Amino acid sequence: MRLRRIILTIIALLALAAGGFVWASQHPVIAGIEPPPRAAFDKALIDTGAKLAAIGNCRSCHTVPGKADFAGGRAIRTPYGTIYSSNISPAPGTGIGRWPEEAFTRAMRRGVSRRGQHLLPAFPYDHFTRLSDGDIHALYAFMMTRVPVENFVPANKFPLNQRWLVPIWNALFLREAPFQADPKHDDEWNRGAYLVSSLGHCGACHTPRNLLGAEKTGYALAGGEADGWTAPALNAASPAPAPWDAESLYTYLRQGWEASHGAAAGPMQPVTENLVHADTADVRAIATYIAAQQEKSSQRRRGGETPANSSGSSQAGKPAQGDGMGAAIFAGACANCHSAAPDAATAAHAIDLSLSTALHENDPRNAILTVLEGIHPGPEQAGPWMPRFENAFTDTQLSALLNYLRVQYGSGAAWPGLEGKIREVRNNKERS
Ligand code: HEC
Ligand code: HEC
Ligand code: HEC
Repeated sequence: MRLRRIILTIIALLALAAGGFVWASQHPVIAGIEPPPRAAFDKALIDTGAKLAAIGNCRSCHTVPGKADFAGGRAIRTPYGTIYSSNISPAPGTGIGRWPEEAFTRAMRRGVSRRGQHLLPAFPYDHFTRLSDGDIHALYAFMMTRVPVENFVPANKFPLNQRWLVPIWNALFLREAPFQADPKHDDEWNRGAYLVSSLGHCGACHTPRNLLGAEKTGYALAGGEADGWTAPALNAASPAPAPWDAESLYTYLRQGWEASHGAAAGPMQPVTENLVHADTADVRAIATYIAAQQEKSSQRRRGGETPANSSGSSQAGKPAQGDGMGAAIFAGACANCHSAAPDAATAAHAIDLSLSTALHENDPRNAILTVLEGIHPGPEQAGPWMPRFENAFTDTQLSALLNYLRVQYGSGAAWPGLEGKIREVRNNKERS
């Protein structure tokens, strides 16, 4: 019976410790204020905040497409269920109109609402925590001067309504520390490093996550996923057939399209649509920092097996492969845009597919999704477009087409089990 008593004692102690932990991680309510008038904020500060908010992608997550900006309610799919973003317009009732700056800062740094509620890390506060005081101050000025829109946001379902679990996640994964500049690098590199790791939260999609949904340490920008898409590695493991440099990254990030890499698609598209409104020096800094992360791969590629550049040379080289079905579909539905004359990467023509990152990835998801959804640049990004082929092909046809392209242009062997992957991607899209 002694053993039983020891076990019971241990259980009681653990329960006490857990209770104490949950109690200790409670945060006080911060009293609401009268919504401050627009005149309370300096115009230049609001402008700075607007440019920063563009890098933070705040609008994309906090706006239902077609509805009022920042009014929240956007459904964000996670492996644990759907999370609805908050109303962060300055509406006094359902938004953040009554939040003093102190409450806003606490939300950005620690993931706690004005009422002391723990926010879920689908809100990337694990990145925003590194923001400087000055940048949070400007973001606050921008948010508090938006159009207030009263809008109730749907509640999350189990297990995402169990907010008491969040402090455990925070204790394990949240590192509340300001950004530390690296004196070995210049100011532009450091500005880029700061923006990528804090406000830009590039790692939220481009870094792989562990079973508890936190980014794996030591794998920064090594390739992750977002909403059914893969977000390719941005470090030396980049699968891009044409090496990125600071110039091509700047153009891609700013315009959503770049001649030797093509267009931003899926969840990357809104990122680049927002960056149109960011400070140009900041986008340059991000490009400089990301290019530096890739250096090793550029050297490796430049050293030897350089893939075809935008000259369209690949078509001439390899003989057509596969069972003929893929080649026939390509000739009928795609070649019109995708195998054009040299230097054809202009608004009217699409990139040579030997430059396609999607066809060079081990995972076929981005290639499948691009063909199903097409490419539709936003109004401010006059890049080229590609039609949707969602209803054009059976899974067997699409599989033959993509594996033809994979072998012909992707320099890899055919994707195994591709037809099953296509079915999976289609089912996933239907559920969303
Ligand atoms: C990747 C999506 C995403 C991005 C990007 C994002 N947010 Fe959020 N944000 C969320 C989600 C989801 C919640 C709600 C979390 C919850 O309910 O636990 C949230 C909550 C908040 C809250 C708390 C509101 C409240 O009522 O408790 C604030 C403040 C906030 N976000 C501000 C911002 C700002 C400012 C930016 C841009 C710098 C931003 N968010 C970018 C997803 C995002
Ligand atoms: C919401 C998720 C998300 C965020 C945040 C995000 N990305 Fe992406 N990114 C993606 C996805 C998905 C792709 C692949 C789709 C495509 O190539 O268009 C991608 C593609 C890219 C590519 C092209 C890679 C290649 O080789 O083709 C670059 C470069 C890139 N992202 C840079 C960034 C940078 C820099 C940031 C931060 C400022 C960032 N991304 C933030 C999801 C995201
Ligand atoms: C109206 C012209 C047009 C047609 C038709 C078209 N595409 Fe595209 N495609 C584009 C454009 C534009 C892009 C974006 C990249 C770029 O700038 O070229 C693109 C991108 C792609 C990419 C992604 C490249 C990457 O990794 O970023 C793939 C794969 C692709 N197309 C396959 C196809 C296939 C397969 C077909 C036929 C079923 C097809 N396309 C038909 C214009 C077209």
